[in-house]
Amino acid sequence: MKGVLIIIKRFLPPYKKYAVLTLLFNFLTALLNVISFTVIIPILMILFKVSDEVYTFIPWDSPKISTLDLIKNNGYWFFDHLIEVYGASTTLLLLALWLIFSTLLKTGTAYLGSHFIIPIRTGVVKDIRNQINDKILSLPLGFFSEERKGDILARVSGDVNEVENSVMSSLDLLIKNPILILIYLATMIVISWQLTIFVLVLLPVMGYVMGTVGKTLKKKSFEAQNKWGLLMSQIEETLGGLRVIKAFTAEKEVSDKFHKGSYEFRRMSNRIARRQALAHPMSEFLGTLTIAVVLWFGGKLILNGSGIIDAATFIYYLTIFYSIINPAKDLSRSVYTVQRGLASMDRIDKILTAKNDIEEAAQPEKIAFDSSISMKNVWFKYDADWVIKGINMSIAKGQTVALVGQSGSGKSTIADLIPRFYDIQKGGIFIDGTNIKDALLHDLRSMMGYVNQEAILFNDTFFNNIAFGKKNATMEQVVEAAKIANAHDFILATENGYDSNIGDRGGKLSGGQRQRISIARAILKNPQILILDEATSALDTDSERLVQEALEHLMKSRTTIVIAHRLSTIKNADVIHVIQDGRIVESGKHNELYALDGYYTKLCNMQGELTA
Ligand SMILES: Nc1ncnc2c1ncn2[C@@H]1O[C@H](COP(=O)(O)OP(=O)(O)OP(=O)(O)O)[C@@H](O)[C@H]1O
Ligand SMILES: [Mg+2]
Repeated sequence: MKGVLIIIKRFLPPYKKYAVLTLLFNFLTALLNVISFTVIIPILMILFKVSDEVYTFIPWDSPKISTLDLIKNNGYWFFDHLIEVYGASTTLLLLALWLIFSTLLKTGTAYLGSHFIIPIRTGVVKDIRNQINDKILSLPLGFFSEERKGDILARVSGDVNEVENSVMSSLDLLIKNPILILIYLATMIVISWQLTIFVLVLLPVMGYVMGTVGKTLKKKSFEAQNKWGLLMSQIEETLGGLRVIKAFTAEKEVSDKFHKGSYEFRRMSNRIARRQALAHPMSEFLGTLTIAVVLWFGGKLILNGSGIIDAATFIYYLTIFYSIINPAKDLSRSVYTVQRGLASMDRIDKILTAKNDIEEAAQPEKIAFDSSISMKNVWFKYDADWVIKGINMSIAKGQTVALVGQSGSGKSTIADLIPRFYDIQKGGIFIDGTNIKDALLHDLRSMMGYVNQEAILFNDTFFNNIAFGKKNATMEQVVEAAKIANAHDFILATENGYDSNIGDRGGKLSGGQRQRISIARAILKNPQILILDEATSALDTDSERLVQEALEHLMKSRTTIVIAHRLSTIKNADVIHVIQDGRIVESGKHNELYALDGYYTKLCNMQGELTA
């Protein structure tokens, strides 16, 4: 119950208006239901001619008699009177017409009750999805090396749906059904409190039995949703790795793994669904049990002639009581759905409440780049082991600094530290003396261009991929950038030119073409500082030359930190830092370093390509 309140409190506020309207119309529905069925009493009395009592009208302000008895007496008098004037069959017709009319009203208000719940449902779901999306955008890269993409997708789709159902059930639980039940119950008490006591004794017993079954449901649902997340991750990986799977003929293995997970998910779903399916028959049985008891007890009261209740009123009582059964059933079902929703909410909250450890400075400083970038005794680790071990370097404005070193030595990591994709644990990185941690992330990253080791492209047109992050780029600017990046010609050769779609992650392009698109993007941004993680993938010489030219254009008159694999890049660099196991082991120009006959020379000889 506490969970329900928390969910409602979190997501309902923007939709209070609709909640109030739903409340109002459900209230009216219950009231109209009670009123519309009162006609049963006179109908039965006419049909069975059960009473030969003669009623006389008692004035409404008569003090001697209780209001309820007054209503009853005058009601009977009214129908007697109608029969006298119009005859029994016309009265029956009038009653039927009244029943139709009041039912029309009742169903109308019932519809409006649901009508106003719909915007709540869609609104809450929209809010949660947006929240997750924005959170994903704000979380640091480090968060996602822990999480599987498919699982995050599962949370955005499956879990949000569960919460949707659960929020709706909570509304049922807290607004609709209690109103209906309370009004019906009140009516029953008014008709006969003696009978109603039975119901009141039986209802909590019913609730307890239902509750015990519901208890383990949350835990089970949580496990099942996790399993579902794993399955989605597998699909995601399969989609991404289809080429490799086929090349290594690993279809069977991948398929077996998926089937196994699928089977387990099915088993869990079976158990949950069966448990949930119990709710309906169980409440039906308990409901009928209660009716049977009431029938027996009420019937005895009538047969005994105790005068507590007459037969026609008893049937009316049963009708109202029967109206309780449905909301009570819904109520019990809600308890189960809410449990599942709470489990999913926990999973969603894992993302929503994840801590962003790349924090914005409390008192941000203005940042400008006029003289240099410097790293002072920088230490960094992803997990347990230090990856960067006390790096010191200074990059003057306009310089090109190259980082070389073996695979895994930490080059890409160093490049990721400057735009604060990760925060360092010790030391400091400064731009013109301002610690980058004291600047706004937006200001810091705005001054940098970033060309990644793997070109990161979006399933969109050439134009939008190049203009990415630059909202009001014109076609002229994009074409200009593409020309400098040697991308213009092959873009024009495609069917729709700049409006051609490049496929998922640029799947319709060659490796070199992808690189040139991401270079064009950096050229368009025209950043002061360029971070360039050269692709290691071997390109054919023609493509290589085109990419090389593009890079040279890009680096021209800019401050560049380049992770270099190409000889020409290294030769032209102002300083080369040789990285080994997270440390700078040698620094200098190509010729100086090569002459040292140290680690750099070994590296050059090893890679063959780098030899002078
Ligand atoms: N997200 C990560 N989480 C944990 N460890 C990581 C992560 N990224 C890289 N590492 C580790 O950090 C070390 C340095 O990796 P880095 O990517 O900086 O190497 P690199 O010099 O760029 O290599 P390459 O030339 O192959 O690109 C490696 O040992 C790697 O295993
Ligand atoms: Mg790298």
